Amino acid sequence: MKKIAVLTSGGDAPGMNAAIRSVVRKGIYEGLEVYGIEKAYTGLIENKFIKLEHKDVGGIMQNGGTILQTSRCEEFLTDAGQNKAIKNLEKRNIDGLVVIGGNGSLKGALDLHNKGVNTVGVPGTIDNDLAGTDMAIGVDTALNTIINAVDKIKDTATSHERAFIIEVMGRESGYLALMASIATGAEEVFIPEKEVNIEKTAKKIREGHKRGKKHGIIILAEGAGNAYNIGRELKNILGYEVRVTILGHIQRGGNPSAFDRILASKMGAKAVQALINNESGNMISLRGSKSTLIPFEKAIQTRTEVRENLFELNKILSL
Ligand code: F6P
Repeated sequence: MKKIAVLTSGGDAPGMNAAIRSVVRKGIYEGLEVYGIEKAYTGLIENKFIKLEHKDVGGIMQNGGTILQTSRCEEFLTDAGQNKAIKNLEKRNIDGLVVIGGNGSLKGALDLHNKGVNTVGVPGTIDNDLAGTDMAIGVDTALNTIINAVDKIKDTATSHERAFIIEVMGRESGYLALMASIATGAEEVFIPEKEVNIEKTAKKIREGHKRGKKHGIIILAEGAGNAYNIGRELKNILGYEVRVTILGHIQRGGNPSAFDRILASKMGAKAVQALINNESGNMISLRGSKSTLIPFEKAIQTRTEVRENLFELNKILSL
């Protein structure tokens, strides 16, 4: 193995820069040439490679986003697109590829692996919806962004005695919403994995109000329903103001937390080692406190289970 390449793909996640830095520096340490591919699979198809040296990845670890930029590439979903991408890798004699991204991106990595390209994945998505890892890069930072925002909303909710629906990202996964609910002491959490019962929530908020609670905070996972419709229904039942805040893309930006920088540094280096060891077709995974390799097929499955114990704990603490 002489030359490797790295790309970041799909929604960006804080910590992707730390992962790029780790791939580049570990690669150079192992005597490899390392190339960055700009704008994910789009850049791979359009031949956008840049050689990365040690100094090119200095001073980037603390920044959100990704220096390589990212995209969601429709053309790469086709055979023709993938074949163009493979030709570009062959022309440059690239022996191995590290793909940093979420499940769509890693599905692309699996396709490349199946077509003979040595490919290793690193989980990078704020959604934490990959079955193959306990934590993906970016999740911890996104959660910290969410709890900062919710704490602030709670101040104004209390002053005005209002209920708030706060929508967080996560696609079909309720992970961010549930964890944010525990970390902020929200009165309710709505996640796609569980039934949304607005009547029950209204009763809970009313009872809390009677006991002297001056706010009602509901964290809504984006996959669990429409924030404005739920807000309207709740307002009709409660008979007082319900405001809606959609946190949106601020959840994807910002300086990565220490956890994400360290996780990304470990996973980037481990990905390079996996390429050197001829372990193509795997994603780097965190299980407990250990990092392991897990085959793409298993890794990219969507996490469907909710941690029931945490869901129950949240219920008890949020009464
Ligand atoms: O997968 C990451 C994510 O931020 C999801 O939480 C969200 O549904 C989606 O990407 C938004 O994508 P885009 O930035 O393309 O609108």
